[in-house]
Amino acid sequence: MGPLIAPSILSCDPSDFRTPVATMMGCGADWIHFDVMDGQFVPPITFGSELVKSLRPLGETPFEAHLMTKTPDRHFSAFASAGCKRIVFHAEATDHAHRLVQQLKELGVYAGVAINPGTPVEILAPLLEIIDVALVMTVNPGWGGQNLIRSCIEKVRTIRHMAPDLEIEVDGGVDPVSITELWEAGATTFVAGSYVSKGGRIKENIEELRSACALKS
Ligand code: DX5
Ligand code: ZN
Repeated sequence: MGPLIAPSILSCDPSDFRTPVATMMGCGADWIHFDVMDGQFVPPITFGSELVKSLRPLGETPFEAHLMTKTPDRHFSAFASAGCKRIVFHAEATDHAHRLVQQLKELGVYAGVAINPGTPVEILAPLLEIIDVALVMTVNPGWGGQNLIRSCIEKVRTIRHMAPDLEIEVDGGVDPVSITELWEAGATTFVAGSYVSKGGRIKENIEELRSACALKS
């Protein structure tokens, strides 16, 4: 599987999300990644399901919500109705990850569980059979433009051993150099925010990420 490229809109100009999202869709992005922050789980506040809904008519590219929120299940149905095909919540935000995955399935969306850099991969073990994607944060969540934390590459490798066929998404510090290492470690899906927006060259930057993986295939 993969490589799948999931541009995040976090680094885009917040006064105009339509233009970059249309470009991302037009150049074959595999997912559009929405970083939802509540000012509680992480300090910043970004946006909610209304923004997702307003962008949904722009095209067919699937949307995923990455909920960096303290009360993830409170928002599931709003993001599902807004048109997200996949919803990812953080393992650290709940004592009931298994039940929350079940809830997402009942809503008819794909379910993902994310882990922070400081969270051991073992927390995912009981969930591997029921999740559609494991999201390994490769920076501490909350901000774009940070450098990849190298110890997270090993976490990807470990999850790949635990679940040979699972989709593994990485998020944070993805650029044409880091992507090759992450791809080689077993990641399939690459969230990229600041690199994709760099210089306003969205199409070229996405192509560059893709071809970096192709060189290592
Ligand atoms: C960080 C977000 C990321 C962010 C990545 O908390 O979850 O999706 O957009 O940004 P870059 O690619 O700039 O590290
Ligand atoms: Zn994210």
